[in-house]
Amino acid sequence: MRISVVGNGYVGLATAVGLAGNGYQVVCIDNNPAKVDLINQGKAPIYENGLDDLITSCVNKHKTLRASTDYKDIADTDITFICVGTYSSSCGGTDFTQIAQAAEDIGVVLAKKNGYHVVAVKSTVAPGTTEQVIIPLLEKASGKKAGVDIGIAVNPEFLEEGKAVDCFLNPTRIVIGEYDKKSGDTVEILYRDFSVPIIRTSIATAEMIKYASNAFLAAKISFANEIGNICKKMGIDFYDVAQAIGYDPRIGRKFLNAGAGFGGSCLPKDLEMLIDSAGKAGYEPRLLGSVRDVNRDQPLLMVAIAEGIIGGLQGKTIAVLGLAFKPHTDDVRDTPSLRVIASLLEKGASVRAYDPMAMDNAREVLPQSITYCGNAAQAIEDTDCVMILTEWDEFKRESLYNGRVVIDGRRVLDPARARAICDYHGICW
Ligand code: UDX
Repeated sequence: MRISVVGNGYVGLATAVGLAGNGYQVVCIDNNPAKVDLINQGKAPIYENGLDDLITSCVNKHKTLRASTDYKDIADTDITFICVGTYSSSCGGTDFTQIAQAAEDIGVVLAKKNGYHVVAVKSTVAPGTTEQVIIPLLEKASGKKAGVDIGIAVNPEFLEEGKAVDCFLNPTRIVIGEYDKKSGDTVEILYRDFSVPIIRTSIATAEMIKYASNAFLAAKISFANEIGNICKKMGIDFYDVAQAIGYDPRIGRKFLNAGAGFGGSCLPKDLEMLIDSAGKAGYEPRLLGSVRDVNRDQPLLMVAIAEGIIGGLQGKTIAVLGLAFKPHTDDVRDTPSLRVIASLLEKGASVRAYDPMAMDNAREVLPQSITYCGNAAQAIEDTDCVMILTEWDEFKRESLYNGRVVIDGRRVLDPARARAICDYHGICW
């Protein structure tokens, strides 16, 4: 079976190298020529753990992977994965521009192709999108019929940034939403060597499974943050609470790390889109709305704690350590640091920022007026307060904080040890 992957972000590339590494012939289709060139040179166009080595071996050694800007190359394959980005639109809801374009472009190629072809959607889309938007566009552009000449499936990805390839190769489950049995059977062949549950469902169910997974993770974090905020008021360390409740297998310790809130390209956006979809379906999701609200306010608690310790922020200088939404990535999409920095500037403070990997991306989204520093020690120099917002290993060096006021938003430091050397405050402990 030959495979094409349209859209080469985290999901597309992890899918492409995962399948190419398993011996399938894969072509990556992307309309960005610079990305395509890099892949064809055997280099990863984004930073992602392990991706560079796998692309190098698949392109140069095994010759199972190549990239192209030409959609026509889809015609030589049997399955096309749609992995383009989906965005929240400025007026709420989902921006379908990229996915609609991909469906049309694929349809135009399939119009001239003889034989059966499956289109599998990996992009995260709201329940109903594949049936109401993607299939009609594909059918119109190709002149072919879903379930007859074209197979359709939704095969969501549950990957985490920084572990994308590993998550693809070692999934917890494989979900295949199928238009009909033949579509699902064709996609399932690709996963026959994976020994995890394979769940075959309707298309809309598969779309909802992806949203529900991310909404649950988001809810778990906001729950931890809410209890953590109560703990803070009562002088209790939430991490002691989390450890004890986490032993209950019905609860589990994972995703109970209270802190500055969740960011990234998925949890905030998917939660927002699920709230929007529910509203359109005539249901107001109160719990999900609260999950969002807790998360929106959570980073700002760092600022409130600082004001409580050092007073008004006008004219003060604050060090912000960590700009990426989590460690081991350069991704700053929806990062809590952005909200903290905007609030600090609004209150008249100056900001000295440092991140080991995300500074270039941060420069594109953060206000111009902050000072970027070459390392953590430089960022901390001559500041009134240090805020830790991403749990990079290099921020664990306690000697950095001697005599400083430190607000830890990610439990990077051990509170007892930190209190011995600095004026240390945890966000939820
Ligand atoms: C997430 C999901 O984990 C993944 O299954 C889905 O496919 C895509 O979205 P990712 O965005 O890569 O993956 O990040 P993740 O590691 O889940 O962290 C998301 C955010 O939550 C980060 O900002 C992180 O700091 C925060 N987080 C995570 C917490 O605040 N507390 C936790 O306990 C866990």
